[in-house]
Amino acid sequence: MKLLRSVPQPMPAGPDFASGAPLPRARPRRLRRTPALRALVCEHAVAVSDLIEPLFVVPGRGVRQEVPSMPGVFVQSVDRLVEDVREGHDLGLRAVLLFGVPQHKDEQASELADPRGVVQRAIGALKRELPDLLVIADLCACEYTSHGHCGLLDERGVIDNDRTLALLARGALSYAACGVDMVAPSDMMDGRVAYLRHALDEAGHLETGILSYAVKYASALYGPFRDAAQSTPAFGDRRTHQMDPPNAREAIKEAQLDAAEGADMIMVKPALGYLDIVWRVREAVNLPVAAYSVSGEYAMLKAAARNGWIDEDRAVDELLVGCKRAGADAIVTYFARSFARRHNGKPHTGGRTR
Ligand code: PBG
Ligand code: ZN
Repeated sequence: MKLLRSVPQPMPAGPDFASGAPLPRARPRRLRRTPALRALVCEHAVAVSDLIEPLFVVPGRGVRQEVPSMPGVFVQSVDRLVEDVREGHDLGLRAVLLFGVPQHKDEQASELADPRGVVQRAIGALKRELPDLLVIADLCACEYTSHGHCGLLDERGVIDNDRTLALLARGALSYAACGVDMVAPSDMMDGRVAYLRHALDEAGHLETGILSYAVKYASALYGPFRDAAQSTPAFGDRRTHQMDPPNAREAIKEAQLDAAEGADMIMVKPALGYLDIVWRVREAVNLPVAAYSVSGEYAMLKAAARNGWIDEDRAVDELLVGCKRAGADAIVTYFARSFARRHNGKPHTGGRTR
């Protein structure tokens, strides 16, 4: 009897109905009726503890300057950075990713491995002031070279992969000596994860992790970051080391290589436009995956919001939960602070709550 009753009945005849058409058998809308129901069947959520906040450190004291193409993002000296991170920490942000803009740039990227460099000092100060904060330091030469390339150049002006490995290893060791929790090589040199793991282990830094930017595309969306870090290449581009946007199978190769070389976590970058890659990497590799929502993504959203063209907060929630849905465990985002402020420790689904 029950079964019989669930058989669709014909639509009642009338001016609004095609007479005789069956009623819909399935009605997915039933589960969307009320906030409580929507919350009950919600599949993914973003927690403040999923987020990694990227931060820029510059030399000096008392410096805090907004990046013009990234409203709400600042380059700061170590003293101001510590204050700023403490505020974020109070809002539940537990992980930061540091980028340094050095005093002086040269062809050898000398300041990259300087024990008194800005990043090294920032790591030391943050670990001292906020011992439970997870401090990750980006590792690449492009902020430190006068030519803005991600490594040491050979006589043709091409990045010399293997000499660059040695430079990166010196940088990683200097960060590890200051107590960094993880180094995040973003250079895309071949073999760097194995090289860094070996160097760290040899020096006794067995617990220093490697968050590898395994899958980093040569994207147009890094522009605002390069303004902030003053790291635009003086000539040429990054296409001989960063990945070509049309390639997906190659992303799996990169991720698997880095996993085999000893990476602890894998990054995919950018996020928006590459969520299929996040998903594929998630499926292919048994390591936590981070998605990096890059500076250009931030700038686009901010610009549209400032024009009144989109609702920033809702768009941010939606894009972040999209990263989770694609399989990201962690998300690097310049919206970390505003998200934490709005959701103040509570997970959020990206759905509309207002
Ligand atoms: C350094 C590095 C870059 C970013 C992260 N690490 C710049 C680049 O590759 O040019 C970009 C991050 C962003 O755009 O937010 N290699
Ligand atoms: Zn670089």
